[in-house]
Amino acid sequence: MADENTKPVPGVATTSFGVPFLYRMFFLLLEPISALAGAYLAHLRKSDYLRLTHAASSPDVIPLGTDIVLSQLANLYLFFAMNEALILRATNDLRVWKRLIFCMLVADFGHLYSIRNLGPQVYWNVASWNAMDWGNVFIVYLGASMRLAFLFNIGLGFTGFQVNGPETWLEFHKNEFQPKPFGDYDVDIQIDCCGVCGSDVHTISGGWGEQHFPLAVGHEIVGKALRVGPKVTLIKEGQRVGVGAQSYACLDCRQCKNDNETYCKDQLDTYGAVWPDTGIVSQGGYSSHVRTHEHWVFPIPDALPSTVAAPMLCAGLTAYSPLVRNGCGPGKKVAIVGLGGIGHFGVLFAKALGAEVWAISRSHAKEADALQMGADGFLATSDKDWNVPHKMTFDLIINTANSFDGFDLDAYLSLLDVHAKWVAVGLPEDEGIKVRNQTFLSNGCFFGASHLGSRRETLEMLQLAADKGIKTWVEEYPISDKNLAEVMTKLKKNDVKYRFCMTNYAEQFGA
Ligand SMILES: NC(=O)c1ccc[n+]([C@@H]2O[C@H](COP(=O)([O-])OP(=O)(O)OC[C@H]3O[C@@H](n4cnc5c(N)ncnc54)[C@H](OP(=O)(O)O)[C@@H]3O)[C@@H](O)[C@H]2O)c1
Ligand SMILES: [Zn+2]
Ligand SMILES: [Zn+2]
Repeated sequence: MADENTKPVPGVATTSFGVPFLYRMFFLLLEPISALAGAYLAHLRKSDYLRLTHAASSPDVIPLGTDIVLSQLANLYLFFAMNEALILRATNDLRVWKRLIFCMLVADFGHLYSIRNLGPQVYWNVASWNAMDWGNVFIVYLGASMRLAFLFNIGLGFTGFQVNGPETWLEFHKNEFQPKPFGDYDVDIQIDCCGVCGSDVHTISGGWGEQHFPLAVGHEIVGKALRVGPKVTLIKEGQRVGVGAQSYACLDCRQCKNDNETYCKDQLDTYGAVWPDTGIVSQGGYSSHVRTHEHWVFPIPDALPSTVAAPMLCAGLTAYSPLVRNGCGPGKKVAIVGLGGIGHFGVLFAKALGAEVWAISRSHAKEADALQMGADGFLATSDKDWNVPHKMTFDLIINTANSFDGFDLDAYLSLLDVHAKWVAVGLPEDEGIKVRNQTFLSNGCFFGASHLGSRRETLEMLQLAADKGIKTWVEEYPISDKNLAEVMTKLKKNDVKYRFCMTNYAEQFGA
């Protein structure tokens, strides 16, 4: 972990600013200086100002109304200068800079045009001043309000595919949204791809109950760190990074201090969580950008392609954490129930950790795939007495099933050795199953659950994957409203091998 933030990412200059030098010079230096000079002249040397700006038509005696308007203009100039500096200090996103230039052109050229074209007579005729004044002020305020909109909606650079509610959960709308305010430890990430988790379907289809809509889901994110907060030390601008399903915890409690931040009582999810101070609902990775505290932003090792790494950030970690916490390794016999996204990582990682690993699926349909992933054996629960030959032989079972339809818990538990562990990570929508003390009596097994994993485990997992060449089985789809609807439908029907990953973000959201 020590050198994670110093490792360069190939093809990405870690120090580059991302915005052309000339843009910066113009906005941060030239424009504010000239605006301040204009303000100074307009306030304190009105005759010079008029002679400089409107030499041809400038009268010797300044009309009464002009005096007031010049002061007003001067205030606006000052205001603009501060405004732009603030906005542009706050972002490296070229799209924001381009929009700002557009607003500035509307305001400044509109202003000049109105002065020049209404002509010297109208301009200097005190009787007609009102018409001129209003025209002028309208244009200036239009520009000012557009700039202000930027200041308050700096986050409107974020766009995502949102769902409006469970009744229309397959309709994705491309909307702009405001992220939480940028904090000292935050990283803004321009997203390149995002894996599709079973939890996305539970969330938008209403299976897990009420959610905060409109909502963009997606929490297996890989992209580029565009901007880092002043106190960020773990991530460098320009680095290729990932974000998983968790985006916040207190980092101060007993759990957080023991690498258990995923169990912190203050933990917040990457999407659908309400940020405590603002009421803003966090939005996930089917979006142009995500803003995340550095603790939940992970450098991606060079050896892992982005679409291979992305699904590891939720599904991979959810499988990896309970494996390493419960002793998966050489000499252990481990089973993975359910060969979906998490399940296939269960097989890949249990194998990489050196255990004997068995896949338990509902039919034989995925048997060849499981063996190709490295499984040492395969059990199909549709076979009669499927559990009998393996009773009391397993040290650990990870259950990834996302439903309890026809789920025979006793048959699964009978596989466990004395005091061995059953760890559930699947989060079915239905009521659940009934257990009695007798359920665990024949082998005294332990029954538990696991949530995601820690930062330390995420970094270890990514390194293990890089070192051992672990490859996610991934089906890539360019992100769009139609493709999101298609992959959600397929995932709901269990028609995936074994993780979808949305790609082509630059085409959809711009570079
Ligand atoms: N605990 C956590 O931190 C955490 C994190 C992320 C996701 N999750 C949850 O984990 C679950 C799985 O997510 P996923 O993305 O891997 O989903 P997925 O790709 O849809 O895989 C789920 C797998 O469960 C198996 N399954 C489904 N219904 C079953 C049943 N009635 N009995 C036995 N097996 C069944 C299927 O495998 P076979 O076809 O091989 O039988 C299916 O492929 C979801 O509920 C998700 O919300 C939990
Ligand atoms: Zn997930
Ligand atoms: Zn905590």
